[in-house]
Amino acid sequence: MNSQNPTSATRARRIYSVKWLEYDADVIPAWVADTDLGIPPSVKVALDDVIAREEVGYPPYSLTLDYLAAFSEWQKSNHGVDMDPSLMMALSDVIQGFNLAISTLVAKDSGVVFFTPSYPPFFSAVEGNNRRLLTSDLVAGDNGYEIDFDDLEEKFVAAGPGGALLLCNPHNPTGRVFSHSELTAIAEVAIRNQIWVISDEIHADLCYSGFTHIPFVSLSDEIASRTVTLSSASKSFNLAGLHCAVLHAGDSRIRKALQAIPEGLLGHPSSLGLLGGAISFREGRQWLDSTLETLRSNREAVMNWVASTDGLVRAFSPEATYLAWLDFTESPRTPTAQRFVLDKAAVALNPGESFASWAGQFARLNFGTTPEVLEMILSRIDGALRS
Ligand SMILES: Cc1ncc(COP(=O)(O)O)c(C=O)c1O
Repeated sequence: MNSQNPTSATRARRIYSVKWLEYDADVIPAWVADTDLGIPPSVKVALDDVIAREEVGYPPYSLTLDYLAAFSEWQKSNHGVDMDPSLMMALSDVIQGFNLAISTLVAKDSGVVFFTPSYPPFFSAVEGNNRRLLTSDLVAGDNGYEIDFDDLEEKFVAAGPGGALLLCNPHNPTGRVFSHSELTAIAEVAIRNQIWVISDEIHADLCYSGFTHIPFVSLSDEIASRTVTLSSASKSFNLAGLHCAVLHAGDSRIRKALQAIPEGLLGHPSSLGLLGGAISFREGRQWLDSTLETLRSNREAVMNWVASTDGLVRAFSPEATYLAWLDFTESPRTPTAQRFVLDKAAVALNPGESFASWAGQFARLNFGTTPEVLEMILSRIDGALRS
């Protein structure tokens, strides 16, 4: 491998990162969704101070309330939506949140629908809660992946009243930011079929210019009363290891229904997570803007490279997220796209088949890294494809 390996510094720094530890040292990781781009400086200062004081006992409830208030302020100022903290719960993880919503809201004999390709834990959440799993494929259009509304309605009918849509918006892995008209159309079909909407909006703050995130709950009061929203500071501010997330119930009836689970099974987010999240929401805007600038330029590098492969790899430019959904179907690889790239390019992508059973010739690239590491990732994949 290249002796000027620009990954060494990152690898040396990221000593507690599953992304960097999972594979052999000669492999550049571009898989699990966190970034190599640090955290907001004010969060670092606050967390350093907590450790310096050795203040890691049980946090006061006021810290939870402050975190929820900070999230509410952030949603208002960044996404124009009113989210009442009294309808929220602080959780450890977004994954925990959608599992909780499925197990408490979705009728036992009903189904849960989601778009494929899909963030893999959606599959295990539906199966693990013994609900019927129904998927609706996004369809590649001229400018990006599109919803097949006829198919969606069919799946809602099959799910039955009391079923749910597990929506991921912005969408992982395609990077779609669903438009107002798409979301309104989803809401109409959901209302018509008495379907809950569990809206995972964890990537909401990572939209690129020209694309606006619309919180699903903001569409109308009627849809709010069918909607659970999940979010976190963990993607926007790179705090996934602190394990802190938020669930917002669209009305008090939903909030009450969520209490069907014994509170003791839910656990609590950590003081570091609550504090890191609250400070990010209150003081992180500037850091996020500059990180988004790096990500925008990385996205351009990925898309320029895709264009230079003359169809060996295809992709739509992600409208949000630091993830690119790479399509190798024009020049299929053995045994799968991800395995080929791992074996021949020593780059670890996420396997397409974990996002949809038909997607073995797709792979997800995480470009949330430094431009130097990204350049090396792309040049390695390029070399392998052409050899
Ligand atoms: C759509 C989506 N939801 C949830 C998560 C994970 O969130 P958490 O770590 O809070 O469970 C991710 C992480 O990649 C994600 O992409």
